[in-house]
Amino acid sequence: MMTLAPSILNADFSRLAEAVAALETAGADWVHVDVMDGHFVPNLTFGPKMVADLHKATRLPLDVHLMIDRPDDWVDRYVAAGAAYVVVHVEAAHDMAATLRRIRDRGAKAGITLNPETDVEAVLPFLDQVDLALVMSVRPGFGGQTFIESAIGKLQRLRAEIDRGKRDVLLEVDGGVKLDNVKRVADAGANVVVAGSAIFESPQGVEAAVKEFRKALR
Ligand code: DX5
Ligand code: ZN
Repeated sequence: MMTLAPSILNADFSRLAEAVAALETAGADWVHVDVMDGHFVPNLTFGPKMVADLHKATRLPLDVHLMIDRPDDWVDRYVAAGAAYVVVHVEAAHDMAATLRRIRDRGAKAGITLNPETDVEAVLPFLDQVDLALVMSVRPGFGGQTFIESAIGKLQRLRAEIDRGKRDVLLEVDGGVKLDNVKRVADAGANVVVAGSAIFESPQGVEAAVKEFRKALR
């Protein structure tokens, strides 16, 4: 069963309650919330209060993607705000095992992610300590970018490692996923798909775009 996690990064930030309500009505599974601090990535988005308010606005699980330096300083507050998943960049954590443990100890599911230029070997040692692994298929910071092909090989390698170790780890892909490549990422082993601009900038509107993705993932 494929999980669809639309990203609200390209939604209208002045109308996020409506955006998540439309996702819920359309049948999305999660809401992917891109947290950016202006240091780890050259963009700035949501603090913990935004996640807390989104958590009040939808029953959909919040998949919180931390593109921030010093994630340890913030994990507690995003979990307390209602994050279901907290996903940390291997490039940002100074003690990844401790950070992953902290996320779980605080009651959320722990995810690890890597940038396009980072070798997949960097996340393999943590596969027994996570509930989710996220492969970035764009350079983090902005929606609407083009899918980076090297993500396919990483998905295949992680899928093989997850299955070989019979691990209960979800494999998520994030960035540049459109209706014309979503089948390829699913075939490469992803079972959670993030789509931002393909949904929020779709000419058919959010609900129709979600339904199209659902059909393509069947
Ligand atoms: C980028 C974010 C992605 C992005 C996806 O830094 O992590 O989640 O919002 O948006 P699209 O699907 O438009 O690439
Ligand atoms: Zn993201």
